[in-house]
Amino acid sequence: MIHIFKQKNDQGKTLLLLHGTGGDERDLFPLADLIDPAANILSVRGQVIENGSNRFFRRLAEGVFDMEDLGFRTKRLKEFVDWAADHYHFNRNQVIAIGYSNGANIAGSILCHYPDALSEAILFHPMVPIRKDMPDLSNVRVLIVAGRNDPICPPQQAQELYEILSSADADVSIHWQPGGHRITMEEVIEAKAWYEKK
Ligand code: MLT
Repeated sequence: MIHIFKQKNDQGKTLLLLHGTGGDERDLFPLADLIDPAANILSVRGQVIENGSNRFFRRLAEGVFDMEDLGFRTKRLKEFVDWAADHYHFNRNQVIAIGYSNGANIAGSILCHYPDALSEAILFHPMVPIRKDMPDLSNVRVLIVAGRNDPICPPQQAQELYEILSSADADVSIHWQPGGHRITMEEVIEAKAWYEKK
């Protein structure tokens, strides 16, 4: 997988950065620097190309996911993180996903399938990736950041994802803001405060 790894510490945290549709592995560096400049960064480029735009999995239409491809790509991404932890010698137990939109959706899918893969996740503008029996997520902390007027990732889906993760016993918080699909500085400040609050 095309990716960038930035080593900042030996045994601390690693941020797994997952961009939105049309982005690439460099997009979320400024966000990572604001949230935790001391954390390692593993930033991955989505392997699916849709009309020239990078994505992490295929979709059949706007908001309609190709579930078989989502399952396949979720497994590959999880296995890639396993490989990267070994290869770059970072702590596999302290991987925090930071995903935006399509990247948040594959991070959510990792949570639904692999309860030990992520210690925390910050999901900016996510949807419900899959509706299935959930594993026990009592060791996972999640922040959902959602827009009340988001036309791409509708508020009902963010709320439903919150309920799904809560029912799986994740320590989940949701932050609402009035705007749309873009990440705002207010959201980043909120995410940083959540990240630092332990
Ligand atoms: C998705 O396809 O993952 C969502 O619709 C968000 C996006 O447009 O990337």
